[in-house]
Amino acid sequence: MEEVIKIEGGHLLEGEVTISGAKNATVALIPAAVLASGPVTIVGIPQIADVNNLCEILHILNIEVIKVADDHLIIDPTNMKNVDLVDEAVTKLRASYYFMGALLGKYGHVRMKMPGGCYLGPRPIDLHIKGFEALGATVKFEKGCYDITATELKGTKIFLDISSVGATINIMMAAVYAKGRTTIENAAKEPEIIDVATLLNKMGAKVRGAGTNVITIDGVDTLSGCFHEIIPDRIEAGTFIVIAAACAKKMRINNVIPQHLDALLSKLEEMGVKMHVGIDYVEIEHSDNLKGTDVTTKPYPGFATDLQQPLTVLMTQAHGESKVEDTIYPERFKHCYELAKMGANIEVRNGEADIEGPTPLGGTDVTATDLRCGAAMVVAGLIADGVTTISDIYHIDRGYSELDTKLTNLGAKIWRESK
Ligand code: EPU
Repeated sequence: MEEVIKIEGGHLLEGEVTISGAKNATVALIPAAVLASGPVTIVGIPQIADVNNLCEILHILNIEVIKVADDHLIIDPTNMKNVDLVDEAVTKLRASYYFMGALLGKYGHVRMKMPGGCYLGPRPIDLHIKGFEALGATVKFEKGCYDITATELKGTKIFLDISSVGATINIMMAAVYAKGRTTIENAAKEPEIIDVATLLNKMGAKVRGAGTNVITIDGVDTLSGCFHEIIPDRIEAGTFIVIAAACAKKMRINNVIPQHLDALLSKLEEMGVKMHVGIDYVEIEHSDNLKGTDVTTKPYPGFATDLQQPLTVLMTQAHGESKVEDTIYPERFKHCYELAKMGANIEVRNGEADIEGPTPLGGTDVTATDLRCGAAMVVAGLIADGVTTISDIYHIDRGYSELDTKLTNLGAKIWRESK
């Protein structure tokens, strides 16, 4: 039976929330762990459905997974077997594609189904494939399955036409055991890439330059187990910061690396949000008379596409015109149609949305069409008059750890019902 999230809006939130480990780092760190020959301990694991699906894939590969605590896993690939990944778990998330780079890197062969994930318009993986081919692999796609094989992987220079997060991480993982030096030019610079490089280096890899647009990987012969703590989730943090700006009396968001959120924080400051930025926390105070603003999404350190959806909701409450342009995913605007059902004044066209505010929002039935649209619906539900019912919440559960508990502790009225 399908569950829905219900939110009774209009309550001012107050208190503290602690941000979990980064989803988009975790979903790469778990596949990266299989490159080791011994146990890899990872702490700060968020409690999200994507992690459960990745663990299911680890089981299929005969990898032992010990859950020491909710946020603490030991992944032991000592007895792993490189079997075909054709189960449903692969199609439930996009990040299953990191097993391509990891298994190709370790065994020179991988066969797996097409990955799944949020539909944000077309999401090709041609750059991943070109990277594997440049390293010496042959890639075939037949009957919905990728078959990637290499007799030997050799380091080379790879220029990415687009600085793709996924392609950068996948190529890094495929190259750790390759002969010689691999150079990724126009690499993506997202903090999650640094986190994966840090794990690989702790295992004994030689990855340099992560966080810049040129990454070099010098191939090694062995990688061992290690201990790693995941960086805080900048998108979850940004979502709570937007929630605080929209409907909190005062909120402190803990376990944050504020530098990762510079683009969001400066936009919020421009809108008139009162904040105090600490070393590892952000405090937001109740702010009236917010002003509209313009946002254009860009690769890091630009404004994150994952945060434009929650921010759109705040824009509906700001005075004057706001504009959102998404250059990464021009079709990532489904949340706008849902917000319009709640009373927002939004016009969507060609990769951008114009918002005229402020408009009161009213609770109604809405759909989480993708993960961050779901986050936007939660923000909207918290400020709307009456009750908002959000369906397709499996998208939200794929990416937000203990969302209901965190919001309830802040004073929100949020609950789940079976439909
Ligand atoms: N692209 C290509 N070819 C490729 C790869 C990407 O054309 O082979 C294009 C994409 O279509 C997109 C752009 O390049 O227009 C950037 O895509 P990127 O590869 O960087 O995105 P991703 O790795 O698929 C990750 C996050 C997304 C986040 C984007 C952008 C994970 C698991 N996902 O996706 O997160 O939006 O980077 O920062 O890390 C989310 O968390 O809700 C989410 C969708």
